[in-house]
Amino acid sequence: MPLEDAKVPVLDRGFIFGDGVYEVVPVYSKVPFRLDEHLARLERSLAAVGIRNPYTREQWRGFIAGLVARQSFEDQAVYFQVTRGVAKRDHAFPKNAQPTIFMMSNPLVPPAPAQVEAGAAAISARDNRWLRCDIKSISLIGNVLLRQLSAEADAAETILFRDGRLTEASASNVFIVARGLILSPPKSSLILPGITYDVVAELARANDMPLEFRGVTEAEVRAADEIWVTSSSKEVLAIVSLDGRKVGEGWPGPVFRRMYALYQEFKRKVMRAGKREALSA
Ligand code: PDD
Repeated sequence: MPLEDAKVPVLDRGFIFGDGVYEVVPVYSKVPFRLDEHLARLERSLAAVGIRNPYTREQWRGFIAGLVARQSFEDQAVYFQVTRGVAKRDHAFPKNAQPTIFMMSNPLVPPAPAQVEAGAAAISARDNRWLRCDIKSISLIGNVLLRQLSAEADAAETILFRDGRLTEASASNVFIVARGLILSPPKSSLILPGITYDVVAELARANDMPLEFRGVTEAEVRAADEIWVTSSSKEVLAIVSLDGRKVGEGWPGPVFRRMYALYQEFKRKVMRAGKREALSA
């Protein structure tokens, strides 16, 4: 239905409590990218917050395929969320609420080629979010406030430190490069396990680019040769200034360039395979 006709009751717990989880799946040439991985993460988020998964993986795939097919544009960002449903306001879980599902697709707008070439600015802040950042919760007030800090500084992201260590950014994961070694924090309850983060790790390993997941200190980030942020909408984007100071030479570095090219090549491969599969179905 048209977006403006979609309605949610005011007592939906998503509206009242931010009680729900979500996913954003990038779609290239109408082929969803890493859909199974996104659905697996949705299943984990739902299980973590005790919301019943209303659909099987097959059903989710079907709804997403239907929504994608109905759009006129090729590259899409499919957003979907599941809330605990509509119930009288009470913090405890309601007994018989049905989960509310909302799904929309918008044009996917990855960083413009000029931004990929030039890189982006970031600022840093203390990570003051809750301790279950591994759940893709729709309660995003912490992330929203942190992102606003960089928006007000005309920067693309806010890079977060907790107890002197890098966690992630307000809406993306973070990698650094130090003397040729790619580093990023390991998965834990302090970061969202990014689907793009996994793709970057796979590409690094498949192409003999040294990569390690381990604790990364704030000092290491500030001294890094390169900083990248990754997400479904930003793909891999170089950060060339942090808090107004140059990262490396102040332009996207060689390791970034290589990873960016590998990422674009991988996207095309997935797209071609998806098209072949659709034709043979
Ligand atoms: N954000 N960390 C946070 C806090 C995020 O919000 C996101 C994604 C990521 C990267 O995850 P992925 O690679 O699976 O997109 C990391 C999405 C795009 C959003 O909220 O719009």
